[in-house]
Amino acid sequence: MYSAVLVLHSLSRYAVLVLALVVIARAAMGLRGQRPFEPTDRKLGGAFLGTVHLQVILGLLLNLGLSPITKAAYSQMPAAMRDKTLRFWAVEHLTMGLLVALIATITRVKSRKAESDPDKHRIALIGYSVTLLVILAMIPWPFRTVIGRGWLPSFGG
Ligand code: HEM
Repeated sequence: MYSAVLVLHSLSRYAVLVLALVVIARAAMGLRGQRPFEPTDRKLGGAFLGTVHLQVILGLLLNLGLSPITKAAYSQMPAAMRDKTLRFWAVEHLTMGLLVALIATITRVKSRKAESDPDKHRIALIGYSVTLLVILAMIPWPFRTVIGRGWLPSFGG
């Protein structure tokens, strides 16, 4: 169960990243070309938010029960706060993940409620760009020291 959820959580980061780039690019082009905010924009925004929420659900399953790393961290919090790896998984990754869901959700609601099409695109462009920056910061990329992981999950392990 742990490996299955971790593999899914690891792979679905790419769905999140691709959809983030698509919604940002469409918002930028829509604003530049004064294109109306189309049903496709709305649907892609929904797909992006859906994958973010899926990540949060899988992440919560890991964080609150399945992951031996967060389990170890929560059993000795003061010591965990001094350990870069434990602190990253138990506090930083969790906080940024929840922040991502919050910003993406607010962006979608505000963009849909905006009165004009340029405003819808502008809100989507700014909000989803900020969301993407936080996502990029929270991923344990292989080049990151201490907390770095592989580009792909290690299947079965
Ligand atoms: C957009 C949001 C998120 C992205 C892109 C993301 C991405 C990732 C990635 C790439 C990994 C490493 C997987 C591997 O080892 O191959 C990971 C691990 C993990 N994530 Fe997330 N995550 C997100 C949200 C969350 C949230 C909200 C939580 C907690 C509530 C969470 C909890 C965890 C935990 C506990 C692990 C490590 C589990 C372990 O190795 O035992 N994630 N995440």
